[in-house]
Amino acid sequence: MTKDKINILLLGSGGRESALAWKIKQSSRLNKLFIAPGNGGTENYGENINLSPMDFTAVKDFAKANSIDMVVVGSEDPLVEGIYDSFKSDESLKEVEVIGPSKAGAQLEGSKDFAKGFMMRHNIPTARYRSFNSATVAEGYKFLESLKAPYVLKADGLAAGKGVLIVPTIEEAKSTLDDMLGGKFGQSSATVVIEEFLSGIECSVFVLTDGNDYRLLPVAKDYKRIGEGDKGLNTGGMGAVSPVSFADDKFMEKVRSRIIEPTIKGLNEEKLPYRGFIFFGLINVEGEPMVIEYNVRMGDPETEAVMLRLKSDIVALMDATAKGTLAKEPIEIDPRYAVTVMMVSGGYPGSYEKGKEITGTENVHDSILFHSGTKLEGGKLLTNGGRVIAVSSYGSNKDEALQQSFASIAKIDFDGKYFRHDIGFDIK
Ligand code: AMP
Ligand code: GLY
Repeated sequence: MTKDKINILLLGSGGRESALAWKIKQSSRLNKLFIAPGNGGTENYGENINLSPMDFTAVKDFAKANSIDMVVVGSEDPLVEGIYDSFKSDESLKEVEVIGPSKAGAQLEGSKDFAKGFMMRHNIPTARYRSFNSATVAEGYKFLESLKAPYVLKADGLAAGKGVLIVPTIEEAKSTLDDMLGGKFGQSSATVVIEEFLSGIECSVFVLTDGNDYRLLPVAKDYKRIGEGDKGLNTGGMGAVSPVSFADDKFMEKVRSRIIEPTIKGLNEEKLPYRGFIFFGLINVEGEPMVIEYNVRMGDPETEAVMLRLKSDIVALMDATAKGTLAKEPIEIDPRYAVTVMMVSGGYPGSYEKGKEITGTENVHDSILFHSGTKLEGGKLLTNGGRVIAVSSYGSNKDEALQQSFASIAKIDFDGKYFRHDIGFDIK
């Protein structure tokens, strides 16, 4: 990309993509932004295009027809399926900057067995584990017996965020292993990773890497469960805060030297092309950071807080990522707190109704609304998913930011509206 102003295609339709679009829209480097497929809020930042990120032929045809210079991939599925390689192997598209890893690099998220092996090879701290398939069930039982309760079983492949099961007894662990190998998550659980349970507080660390250098984005913590006190069913995420008090300089120095740098060096040594975001899902075990998982994209809803704190131009950072010049690209972080609180549909994450009219968003002036599951129909804004709108706010401390989001939520209404009042608890 030698042009001053570029055309960007952002793939996805959630709150994360809304936040990325909001930030991209502020760039002095932007000519035109397209979001595919986008949602009822992303039209505020660019043009929604009705195509699926998984339809690579359609995505590439669109890129050719609209002189796209950069493709930003929001979610993991197209990356794990090889969208990066699909662009690079097309003569007329190979100059397009694709922000995300190659298919080989995306195995860090696409295969938990691969990710664990990678961490072993590069001495990156993570829970002790072994992987099993239908030919090694008996060994799986033995390994489970060598561990203490609770038991952690993970489908190797992508399972829409549902592939990790934590069970309290050895009997349940063995039957869970049987179910998973028997196809509970289809092909994704043909291999199962069993690992030691780690106890501690989790946080999400994000970097942009060009394969050699990296820039650290603000650290965040998300709140995954539907109920207050972090109880009840897992969701896609009910809120997030940034910064995270326990992720202090001492902790982050360990994260850099023991986790981030060995990961990037490992990608290099194993010749896994990677120019994009890495999301390290970490757990703080008595002051020692350990990796729970890698993701090859930004987090949702963490992005809806993290983007507020990124002062630098994200397009300049992503351009340097694609060009391999990140070492020369500074990053500036806003010292303020940023939080996001997710408004969800009644019933979520179980069954819920869509199509409820959302009112009052025009009265919100002191928070930023990142639409997640919304659509515009006949001039009305309607709910169109479980997670509806992420309400993000700044504050000079965490409570001030949270109170701002709650005040904004009070102005918005839709039938069945629900949110957690305790986002940010547990950490100062
Ligand atoms: P993952 O999909 O790998 O992020 O796992 C989902 C959630 O399961 C994580 O965010 C953790 O809360 C939990 N988890 C995964 N692995 C472990 C582990 N080894 N010990 C404790 N909790 C875990
Ligand atoms: N917030 C966790 C995730 O995006 O996977």
